[in-house]
Amino acid sequence: MSSTEDMISAMHDGLAEVKTETGPKIPVPETYLKATKHHLKDVQEYLDWYKKSLESPNDFWSEKAKEMLSWHQLWTGKTLEYNFDVRKGKVYSEWFKGGKLNACYNALDRHVENGHGSQVAYYCEGNDLVDDHRTVTYAQMLDQVKRLASALKKRGVRKGDVVAIYLPNIPELPISMLACARIGAIHNVVFGGFSAEALAGRILDAQCRVLITCDGVMRGNKVIELKALADAAEELVYERGDGHLVDRQIVFKRLGDKCPVGMKPKRDEWWHETLAKAEPECPVEWMDAEDPLFVLYTSGSTGKPKGLVHTTAGYILYAAITHKYAFNYQENDVFFCTADCGWITGHSYVVYGPLLNRATSVIFEGVPTHPDSSRLWQICDKYKVNQMYTAPTLIRSLMRAGDKYVTKIPRNSLRVLGTVGEPINPEAWNWFFNVGGDKCCPVVDTWWQTETGGHMIIPPPVRGFQMKPGAASLPFFGIEPVVLNEKGEELSKPCEGFLCIKRSWPGIHRTVLNDHARMEQVYFSTFKGYYMSGDGCRVDEDGYYWLTGRVDDVINVSGHRIGTAEVESSLVSHPYVAEAAVVPMPHDIKGQGIYAYVTLRDGFEPSEELRKELRQTVRVEIGAIATPDVIHWAPALPKTRSGKIMRRILRKIAEKGTHVSSEELGDITTLAEPQVVAQLIELYGK
Ligand code: WTA
Repeated sequence: MSSTEDMISAMHDGLAEVKTETGPKIPVPETYLKATKHHLKDVQEYLDWYKKSLESPNDFWSEKAKEMLSWHQLWTGKTLEYNFDVRKGKVYSEWFKGGKLNACYNALDRHVENGHGSQVAYYCEGNDLVDDHRTVTYAQMLDQVKRLASALKKRGVRKGDVVAIYLPNIPELPISMLACARIGAIHNVVFGGFSAEALAGRILDAQCRVLITCDGVMRGNKVIELKALADAAEELVYERGDGHLVDRQIVFKRLGDKCPVGMKPKRDEWWHETLAKAEPECPVEWMDAEDPLFVLYTSGSTGKPKGLVHTTAGYILYAAITHKYAFNYQENDVFFCTADCGWITGHSYVVYGPLLNRATSVIFEGVPTHPDSSRLWQICDKYKVNQMYTAPTLIRSLMRAGDKYVTKIPRNSLRVLGTVGEPINPEAWNWFFNVGGDKCCPVVDTWWQTETGGHMIIPPPVRGFQMKPGAASLPFFGIEPVVLNEKGEELSKPCEGFLCIKRSWPGIHRTVLNDHARMEQVYFSTFKGYYMSGDGCRVDEDGYYWLTGRVDDVINVSGHRIGTAEVESSLVSHPYVAEAAVVPMPHDIKGQGIYAYVTLRDGFEPSEELRKELRQTVRVEIGAIATPDVIHWAPALPKTRSGKIMRRILRKIAEKGTHVSSEELGDITTLAEPQVVAQLIELYGK
């Protein structure tokens, strides 16, 4: 964890980018209001619900839980019990304790039982434009899920076991997640773009005996050999663990002849053969409301990625309710979240939220710019998408490609546009609203985190609401955000500071797998009694929240969290490297890029060759998204006399280069060797 001083300086760096005071206001468009039905009459109703959710949380949430979910047995205890204050004991949240239900039953069975089996669950759009699509109905999903679930059971997977899933964004990914949920196993999805090394770490940490993967996947024109990466990961697990951990690998055939694979006898089996032979029925395991549903790893400021654990009832309720209200999802609408199921956005808004609400969704395996920048809009047109949810980084890259890729495609089915992952700059917001949505669709800029399970701050797409480009806007039902100063005092609007949450909500993660102390330390120890988000924010006079970026050592690259510590430890694993410090740099498309200062061991010289090698090291150890954009050779790093690296200074040089002023650098007299700063500036760009 960074020091408070570093956090504050990072916060101010972020704040400097917010140009608008209270911002121009744009009403939720009348065309949208007329074009569709609405769950909420107007902004007043939204605010009334919000008020009720805070004043009578038990009533509010128990009503919603009964209305939106099917329970095998209602909870017997309190709706909610929690403690956010480490001084009072263990930090915990318990929602609907004693209730019994099953996430898969809620996502699939009940819809099929109610006669909706033939409804499309997913339109599956593959990588290629032509002949690469499938349609999967709710009944077909359920059939596949039951077969896979009974196969898993037969292979010894029991309630509470963790199953690793390493698949591209195809329907077999939600099928695998739900098969786990059906039998009470905990899914551990590892993003298909992560390396063998990253997969190995997650398999080991969660002790997974079963891995579900596929032969390979096309990304644009490239073949990615997932099975080969999975095998490499298992080798690494073997080397590091106490023998062979993964004794079963179920391999979906996605590419076939295009990607031949070796199958290890006794361990590896083909998905289609296994499912064809499997028992077609598999009873649901009724889970306690607080039983874990999944673990998902995410980067933090320090150490290895942590496995965040989400539990059953609270998480699914929160995914469902946010999906319904933030996007105004109506029956028969077609919903399209462009995220990969390997991230929380995919978990909540490709899988759980939409399926729980019996939505029809698009699941997209490919690259949004392949074969060209029209792809997303083409998909919207092809499936008559009503809500499209994507990331600012993508919006910026589409904006740069030019309006013609958008305007040539009719987009008249679109009603709501959504964004997530990083602050959206007003320019990108305006383009998305004006060009992408033809001024007819509200833009819903949702702030939330892997830790929060679902949306926390949103601009509600309701009559009378005034949107402000760049502001995530208002808290969702049940969320009580506060802004604290560095002393931990609550500030009143208008203000700027650390964004924290004052009370529990159903979607909060409950723990870090095998390390509850780390969860308390990271989220609850800096400001006692609050959940600390790690983000800075400003609240304007109208009470709108403006997110300004991370205040800790996490870099947000294209909406994905990369811990600086992970990249640093990967760089220093290279035998020539003595020390490394990684900071964010502004990046036009990605939002933030990765800027690495590297000090070599005595006797080694910088070279272009070595730069390439270091970038490759990170690519192999973590994955392509963590590759440094810049490697800055540093004779030494600026440190305090006690040996702490002054990241504030490194961030400024990365941002401003040789134009950095002494005011921007701040006080450097506390450095052990102040001359290092001038040397670093001198070496900028070399
Ligand atoms: C950032 C993604 C500003 C933020 C759902 C947060 C955002 C981190 C927004 C979580 C937004 C996400 N405006 N910043 N609308 N949405 N962030 O865990 O820094 O991958 O802490 O979850 O992304 O990233 P994560």
